[in-house]
Amino acid sequence: MSFKIKDLVIENKIILAPMAGVSNSPFRILSREYGAGLVFAEMVSDKGLLHSNEKTIKLLYMTEAEKPMAQQIFGSDLKSMVDAAVYIDQHSNADIIDINMGCPVPKVAIKAQAGASLMKNPDLIYEIVYSIVKKVSKPVTVKIRSGWDSDTVNAVEVAKKIEQAGASAITVHARTRAQGYAGFADWDVIKAVKESVSIPVIGNGDVVDGPSAKKMLDYTGCDAVMIGRGALGNPWVFREIDAYLKDGTILDKPTLQEVKDMIIHHLEALCDLKGEHIGVLEMRSHGPWYLKGIEHASTLRKQLSQAKTKDEIIGYVNAFFDK
Ligand SMILES: Cc1cc2nc3c(=O)[nH]c(=O)nc-3n(C[C@H](O)[C@H](O)[C@H](O)COP(=O)(O)O)c2cc1C
Repeated sequence: MSFKIKDLVIENKIILAPMAGVSNSPFRILSREYGAGLVFAEMVSDKGLLHSNEKTIKLLYMTEAEKPMAQQIFGSDLKSMVDAAVYIDQHSNADIIDINMGCPVPKVAIKAQAGASLMKNPDLIYEIVYSIVKKVSKPVTVKIRSGWDSDTVNAVEVAKKIEQAGASAITVHARTRAQGYAGFADWDVIKAVKESVSIPVIGNGDVVDGPSAKKMLDYTGCDAVMIGRGALGNPWVFREIDAYLKDGTILDKPTLQEVKDMIIHHLEALCDLKGEHIGVLEMRSHGPWYLKGIEHASTLRKQLSQAKTKDEIIGYVNAFFDK
């Protein structure tokens, strides 16, 4: 069930997606503990790194417990992308350098001409990947979308360029930039990419549990699946997928006690890393995600999304789960 990215052995085919504001060290540790074979860190800006922006440098924080880990960078300018990759190569303990060619948000894809905007320029993609691979010793991977929009689906062409440029794996999020996160991912694009390159292909888009993971692996032939939104408030998804891929076992959903303990554990870990103020702000998103599917939790959801201190969150959580 393992696969390899260059010489790095990944113990299974289950991967945490890079998610800005989510895939930080505490969440990556949880994901690894619960069964992800590889975790991606949220994207960092090439220019932010090169200007030693304090916030950007802090995003590079990682621990041994989360390895193997891929650090993603985004940018559009060849020289600063290469310099940022060299910086990661030399200053980070990450195992892989990943290049973002899929981010759809206007600040990245339109204003900065980075992320998914690069899909419009396969020659520049080649040049960026080739120049980075030449300069770094860590494996280089690239995360792409299907294309810019439905008229310009070019993932296969781009994937071939990425392989020729020396990358060690490609992730395909099978939506166009124009789709954002709406609608369904078109897994045929992942299948077509897999058929056209020989480096590992990681499939991404709409995998949320064991059956959908198996379906994507079987249908597309991809080497591994990457899970984004299905992991929000749900680090258990990795062990669920792992069990299902091994022998079709469907694990029970976490108990209310497990959900309660996880919310408090995640809160503590975020506050330890980022301080109480930021930890609580981030938990305003994670908290409600943990409550998805739990009955009568609308008041708690609201309380968590407005909480100001750690003690306040712990109080609300205890009151709800211990009643
Ligand atoms: C909150 C959020 C933040 C994201 N941040 C990033 C990012 O930093 N880099 C990236 O390549 N993709 C990012 N993505 C996209 C995901 O990695 C993934 O491609 C997408 O969510 C589709 O997978 P899913 O259907 O499993 O959610 C983000 C997605 C979400 C929901």
